[in-house]
Amino acid sequence: MAMDKGREPPILTVRGLRTYFATDAGVLRAVDNVSFDLYPGETFGIVGESGSGKSVTCRSLIGLLPTSARTTGSVQYGGRELVGLSARVMQGLRGAHISMIFQDPMSALNPVMKVGAQIAEALEAHGKANRAGRRAAAIDLMRRVGIPLAERRVDDYPHQFSGGMRQRVVIAIALACRPQILLADEPTTALDVTIQDQILSLLLALQQEFGMSIILVSHDLGVIAETCDRVAVMYGGQIVEMGAAATLLTRPRHPYTVGLLRSLPGTTATRYLTPIPGAPPSLVDPAPGCRFYDRCPLHTERCRTWATELLDVEADGRHLARCWRHEEVEFEPLEMTRETESDAVLAAASSRYRTPIQDAGGQHE
Ligand SMILES: Nc1ncnc2c1ncn2[C@@H]1O[C@H](COP(=O)(O)OP(=O)(O)O)[C@@H](O)[C@H]1O
Ligand code: SF4
Ligand SMILES: [Mg+2]
Repeated sequence: MAMDKGREPPILTVRGLRTYFATDAGVLRAVDNVSFDLYPGETFGIVGESGSGKSVTCRSLIGLLPTSARTTGSVQYGGRELVGLSARVMQGLRGAHISMIFQDPMSALNPVMKVGAQIAEALEAHGKANRAGRRAAAIDLMRRVGIPLAERRVDDYPHQFSGGMRQRVVIAIALACRPQILLADEPTTALDVTIQDQILSLLLALQQEFGMSIILVSHDLGVIAETCDRVAVMYGGQIVEMGAAATLLTRPRHPYTVGLLRSLPGTTATRYLTPIPGAPPSLVDPAPGCRFYDRCPLHTERCRTWATELLDVEADGRHLARCWRHEEVEFEPLEMTRETESDAVLAAASSRYRTPIQDAGGQHE
């Protein structure tokens, strides 16, 4: 892990990003004023419930959205503004500079094309090597992503691979042109927990080898805790808390983050699992004030009219929370059943290449 993360200039700077969809019900604000930086070599997590705007945020960065979407704001990459780039220029950037992998590996693969040819195609699209060179490079990539007998399997079709092996193929395709940034949107959600952990470990190992930055999206705070240096928590199309993983997971300053932590199995122990009551807010004409109001145990009248903004809770610019009552937010490790469980949160936040967080926390009964 690079020690100076956060001190070098960011590789990606996102400011005031908004993506609105025209829908029959009205304008849906899927991403509503999102700002963050991505630093070289870091793993930046985006976590939040389903529908909070994580995927649309990622897709907005690289212009992978339907025509009903309108994106505004700024995404700076390598001195270039990405918002508003033509589809053709953006396509050139995708893969070669910024790659994306999705939850469902099957949808990313062509079922009637050999996997080696699909990896080679990604190399060819960016003008890499000749035919024989591409085949050799495809086999090499398959080895690096841990596919056994790569020289034989290069001529297999996707359906001949298991789910985990297919996701490895997708990762090989994403890495074919050595991108600087990998957007990984729920890359392990469709996989069972052992395979999930193998894929996450693989991504982190490849990150070191390739020296890339990763934006890892998950609805599962456990996955984020295991892998990320910094974390943004999304709610209702906005970032509600952002900071170093170790800080945010042990001293959360937004009630929603506390809710996510308390619903995490293995830290508060399965028997204390408390899901956050209520439902996410409507993103069409959201009410003014705090979007978490209806579900927040700390809400007061003022929250309804408060001009919600991300506040600098440590006065060092490194930990932000969208809650004016952030000083009163409590996360009570003492309520946990054993001391070791709060240790587990810390350990999960600070270590990488781990076994699943469920195993780090406590015993399932
Ligand atoms: N193509 C689309 N048209 C209209 N609304 C969309 C579209 N894609 C996503 N949305 C809406 O945008 C919001 C954010 O979605 P998404 O980013 O996929 O959430 P997440 O990835 O956090 O689960 C949701 O309310 C979703 O219904
Ligand atoms: S601003 Fe109010 S409603 Fe929103 S999270 Fe803070 S206390 Fe809860
Ligand atoms: Mg999603």
